[in-house]
Amino acid sequence: GITRHYKFNIVMQNVTRLCQTKSIVTVNGKFPGPRIIAREGDRLLIKVVNHVQYNVTLHWHGVRQLRSGWADGPAYITQCPIQTGQSYVYNFTVTGQRGTLFWHAHISWLRATIYGPLVILPRKHSSYPFQQPHKEVPIIFGEWWKADTETIINQAMQTGGAPNISDAFTINGLPGPLYNCSAKDTFKLKVKPGKTYLLRLINAALNDEIFFSIANHTLTVVETDAVYVKPFNTPVLLITPGQTSNVLLKAKPKAPNATFLMAARPYSTGPAAFDNTTTAGILEYENPSVSNSKNKNKKLLLLKPSLPVFNDTTFSMKFSKKIRSLATTKFPAKVPQKVDKRFFFTVGLGMLPCSQNQNCQNNTRVAASINNVSFVQPNIALLQAHFFNKSKGVYTTDFPANPPFKFNYTGTPPTNIMATAVVVLPFTTSVELVLQDTSIISAESHPLHLHGFNFFVVGQGFGNFDPSKDPAKFNLVDPAERNTIGVPAGGWVAIRFLADNPGVWFMHCHLEVHTSWGLKMAWVVTDGKRLNQKLPPPPSDLPKC
Ligand code: C2O
Repeated sequence: GITRHYKFNIVMQNVTRLCQTKSIVTVNGKFPGPRIIAREGDRLLIKVVNHVQYNVTLHWHGVRQLRSGWADGPAYITQCPIQTGQSYVYNFTVTGQRGTLFWHAHISWLRATIYGPLVILPRKHSSYPFQQPHKEVPIIFGEWWKADTETIINQAMQTGGAPNISDAFTINGLPGPLYNCSAKDTFKLKVKPGKTYLLRLINAALNDEIFFSIANHTLTVVETDAVYVKPFNTPVLLITPGQTSNVLLKAKPKAPNATFLMAARPYSTGPAAFDNTTTAGILEYENPSVSNSKNKNKKLLLLKPSLPVFNDTTFSMKFSKKIRSLATTKFPAKVPQKVDKRFFFTVGLGMLPCSQNQNCQNNTRVAASINNVSFVQPNIALLQAHFFNKSKGVYTTDFPANPPFKFNYTGTPPTNIMATAVVVLPFTTSVELVLQDTSIISAESHPLHLHGFNFFVVGQGFGNFDPSKDPAKFNLVDPAERNTIGVPAGGWVAIRFLADNPGVWFMHCHLEVHTSWGLKMAWVVTDGKRLNQKLPPPPSDLPKC
């Protein structure tokens, strides 16, 4: 591979959406941010210079970061933030992966405006295991607030309530024609009849899973989370925040000057209000053989796609189950067949007493937890503490492998414990983790994201996981290999991964509001014995707290 250099200046930029202008934090003044392109095997050196008043970190979502944990990016997990006027070079190599990922800020809610595509092309002279597309187009979904998002989350954390919902969804930063005064802010994709396009779909929205569809067109899913899958056709996709998917769009052989809408709107199962609006873009056929005079009389076929209802959990489960690894000799699915350690984590929302500096109603606030632990962000980075053997007073290693209470859909909400606790995994531990949704406030889908690894989705179902029956049905042959999976609303999902990457690895719900409320934890993976199994020391420019 080669080395590719990028310079990311963090700067403020005025951006107008929905008839209102606000100043947002951006990379190089761009919204969405610049596209990073690399080939498998390349090294990326991304110099980030912070020119704004906020502390910043960036994360390369889905990049495995093999022995390069210092470049992973979650604030106070692998690094201290880059402070105003400081810089940091993210230095990592993309190995064993190719496809669509993305990058985003990983501190507070700054990823609302700081995100962009990260495209890993196959190695030179190797091709896709599917039809070579005529063109490749990133389609990145986002969520827009008229107000300042940092103010919104800071106020919500102060009052213990839920933050305001967004005002619009966006496609490549644009809300589209279904919102007030946004017709000019519409993403347009021009296609040639008969040609095949590779759409690189990314859900960068903060708090919403998204259905996506293009009117009158079927999409062929060929990859999820930068892993090839067995191709399947679908009119609609469901993509959680943190998930990415490559799909092929075959333009119709004859559709001169026809125009179709593509649209995205949320899948929501939570108890709270959510932004139930629709973002749309336009798919436009160009046909050079049609003369200009005919063009004038062109009939606009503005067909709207039909999307599932907002809480269609059946669709969600069915769609998730369709995704299977390609699992060929060239692209094998390396599913761990034996398990060294089993974990059972309940995920969900609960309540906590207010802290002194909060003014919440009824003296309780919403919290979120894994196994009843609401994770407390430390004030120095866990990875540094681990590497220099200075974990005392920073974190404890007693994160529970099982929930402290018997799982019960209807039980009274237990009070969460607040702690900075981790699980320590000896190098190359083979892990099986069952994630069980709880219904303490309400059944809700949680897109869980694991840093530093891909995992295999060996099983999923509704209701309570049954350890005596469900494992017999696990798929250990060609399960989906991902970095983010929706824990089904009122159900469970079982994943397996091999802890072959030394470092500290964050795991959290990719609904940002749930992360803010504590639905997060970390795995500490120890070094192996050989030199090439150890985490190298930190780079000299690693920011200090
Ligand atoms: Cu895309 Cu920890 O995040």
